[in-house]
Amino acid sequence: MARIQLHPDFIWGAATAAHQVEGNNINSDYWAIEHAPNTPFVEPSGDACDHYHRYREDIAMLARLGLNAYRFGIEWARIEPEEGHFSISELDHYRRVLAACHENRIAPIATFHHFTSPRWVAAEGGWEDPKTAERFARYCEHAVKHLGDLIHTACTINEANLGAYLYLTGETREKIDPARSRWFAAAARKAGADPDRFAPFLMCHQMKARDTMLLAHRLSAAALKSSPHMFPVGITLALADFQPEPGCEQRVAAIRAECQDIFFEAARGDDFVGVQTYTRQRIGEKGVLPPEPGAETTIMGYEFWPEALEPTIRYASKMAQVPVIVTENGIAATDDTRRVEYVRRALNGVARCIRDGIDVRGYCYWTLLDNFEWNSGYKPTFGIVAIDWKTQERTPRPSARWLGEIARANAIETED
Ligand code: BGC
Repeated sequence: MARIQLHPDFIWGAATAAHQVEGNNINSDYWAIEHAPNTPFVEPSGDACDHYHRYREDIAMLARLGLNAYRFGIEWARIEPEEGHFSISELDHYRRVLAACHENRIAPIATFHHFTSPRWVAAEGGWEDPKTAERFARYCEHAVKHLGDLIHTACTINEANLGAYLYLTGETREKIDPARSRWFAAAARKAGADPDRFAPFLMCHQMKARDTMLLAHRLSAAALKSSPHMFPVGITLALADFQPEPGCEQRVAAIRAECQDIFFEAARGDDFVGVQTYTRQRIGEKGVLPPEPGAETTIMGYEFWPEALEPTIRYASKMAQVPVIVTENGIAATDDTRRVEYVRRALNGVARCIRDGIDVRGYCYWTLLDNFEWNSGYKPTFGIVAIDWKTQERTPRPSARWLGEIARANAIETED
């Protein structure tokens, strides 16, 4: 076992996404979907963690815990609620969030797209339409003019490969058929869209969306890099550790090629690649295999497999050939001791990567606060901080203090 002392600038963060924590993201496509009859969302996002108003106390808490970075979302649907209308007051809101990070000596890592888009974008062909790539880059350009001087690191798109990944591993259909899915047609109408043109990310033709995402990354990264403030820019990717059953190696290679490798190639010109790993996925002849009987699973139903992080960092580094930041890694658990165990083992993997010379620049836990876990609502508790949903009171869990101490010591162990 070796103890690795990390670079003084190593990023120790916790991550959130605007829609999942801010509350009342009413101009977004997902808000319309959450409120459609027969929606697949078990509950709407509503006030969420009211982070839109409570960001100051949340950022101060993150700093008190001992972390030095905060990865959060800048919400396109707030900044450009109607095409071409850029809200200065919303941009000022995010300026205040960024300033609060600096006041607390927290490095702000801003994500410009995390699943949600303005309703008008989804209504105008959304992520199936290559024009959305230009629309997205234009919003990034406006945002960065207003905010660029305060940004430490920028992520263009969160898990831009997720739709393709879910489709290729057989977890979603190619396209939600508006005729068959009454909720989809209703959600489209709520968003003022023709159901045939309504295309929110993750709920549209996944392979068309993949290509739009790739283009959107390229154009938005260029827009962000045009800022005179020289912060690093990268994309973040959903990277399960694919493990082929015997005889399925080719199948896995083909899946990887289409939903990982093509994105790693796109990341080659960037300053880093964001690795987001939660578990392994065993792939058999018919697709993803469920966890083996008796295997420990998390609230999400994923296999408890913290060892997935190490191979995905190694693969990302080899393929993208740029530094790696772990922009998400975490677990939804009722027992906080399992969270500590999960992160401890995941960090052992990070330590082994660094020992072997891989340039890993940071680790962000998903997530700071229990929050709106998309379709699954508020039940899955990923947070290192619990929330009382009646009072919005925040209570750090023991795992938060444990992680904060590791961050303060800035050292991790290989344990092998
Ligand atoms: C997403 C988060 C999500 C987390 C846990 C990631 O895919 O970026 O928004 O909450 O996984 O499911």
